[in-house]
Amino acid sequence: MSKIKHILGLKTMSRDEITKILDLAESLEDVCTGRKVSHELENQLMATFFYEPSTRTRFSFETAMLRLGGKVISMADAKATSSAWKGETLADTIRTIDNYCNVVVLRHSQAGAAEEAASYSRVPILNAGDGTNEHPSQGLLDMLTIRKEQGSLDGLKVMLVGDLKHTRSTNSVTLGLSNFDVEFTFVSPKGFETSYWILDVLKQRGRKFQQTDQIENAIDDADVVYICRIQKERLANPDDLEKISGSYIVNRALLERSDKIKTVLHHLPRVGELSEDVDGYPGAAYFKQPYNGVLVRAALIKTALGLA
Ligand code: NCD
Repeated sequence: MSKIKHILGLKTMSRDEITKILDLAESLEDVCTGRKVSHELENQLMATFFYEPSTRTRFSFETAMLRLGGKVISMADAKATSSAWKGETLADTIRTIDNYCNVVVLRHSQAGAAEEAASYSRVPILNAGDGTNEHPSQGLLDMLTIRKEQGSLDGLKVMLVGDLKHTRSTNSVTLGLSNFDVEFTFVSPKGFETSYWILDVLKQRGRKFQQTDQIENAIDDADVVYICRIQKERLANPDDLEKISGSYIVNRALLERSDKIKTVLHHLPRVGELSEDVDGYPGAAYFKQPYNGVLVRAALIKTALGLA
């Protein structure tokens, strides 16, 4: 077994490990905002290698590394402009780029790609999303946002709504939160439910959950509402997009049915499922998530490099 500290998912991350990363993230706030200058990672170089589009994940990893005093090399469109276009395998690409850097941030369209990359890499792999599997840095930044907004990760009812079958962020945040005293309600169109392997983890850990396709009743009981986009690029049948788009549109009137909701999250980008009239709602925290993303990703880089 290799001793390299890869961060591939939250499925096996313990409550203590998660708490340590979130605490470290909060302690890095001055560095991550530029209020305090850091040279801590000046000898370290991070490669971001993305086979899928990204705005927040890549930029916030790179911001975090630069704020920590490190250096970055970046491949934003690996499918089109790396040797992947010529047919190079992921295994060969990883065994090349690990010569150039101390840590790799990888986004890929295949579930399991991060684990495969880790099996070849001589430097830590940070999974920035692998297909429909996991997106651990997103799950952790979601958890940091919830912890800041709610004051704790215990004693919460969390409702997740949308295309839960294909959304890796909701997989990771659910797995992470399952280490805490959280009850889940999953709201999705029929056929787009949370995967069994996620529900199995909840069962093993004794967490309560409900599944429904009706948002109205589910929302009344929630402390935290997490909305996600239909992952149109992952639909097996493209015609499904028309069938399910518009299934749930979370707007201010819907949220105001309840006076309990304190935190409204979205991994972003939103494309119609979360109305702009929610932006002024007191619990709207979805533009705090990208801020917290820099803090969490700085903590993950330090952890992976053995500097935490
Ligand atoms: C998500 C992703 O790529 O999984 N984006 C993100 O990292 N915030 C979600 C999405 O694309 O809908």
